[in-house]
Amino acid sequence: MYVVASDHGGFELKEAIVALLKERGLEHLDMGPINLDSVDYPDFGAKVAGAVSSGEADAGILICGTGIGMSIVANKFQQVRAALVHDSFTAQMAKEHNNANVLVLGGRILSVEQGVELVKIWLDTEYAGGRHQKRLDKIHQYEQEQIS
Ligand code: RB5
Repeated sequence: MYVVASDHGGFELKEAIVALLKERGLEHLDMGPINLDSVDYPDFGAKVAGAVSSGEADAGILICGTGIGMSIVANKFQQVRAALVHDSFTAQMAKEHNNANVLVLGGRILSVEQGVELVKIWLDTEYAGGRHQKRLDKIHQYEQEQIS
């Protein structure tokens, strides 16, 4: 299941991404906001990252103005690998090498069309595994050391 949220800076792109997930028949949950009113990105980032961290969701998508705030918040959560991507190469690598379970986009950087295209690339790319798994295991190990 995919969970999606934004702040006001990413609202328009969030709506288009929810429509894409619907169109593809992918199980998803829109975690808000429901309109363009100004909100605080940590509150919405935490909803998505919390759901991914707990295993309630398989993956998430977050959008704020730059994508920076959302990626900072999301990466505070255990088991979350949030990747802020700006172009087709970083969208592909985020899955292929980093197996990012949260994709982060900048709604004030990308057009709605560009943002949707990056989501498609991330969805359609497979994690390569192999040598990359050792690196993800190290991230997990450092995370465990931080909390023990
Ligand atoms: C909100 O104005 C803006 O700060 C937010 O959307 C985001 O860009 C934060 O990183």
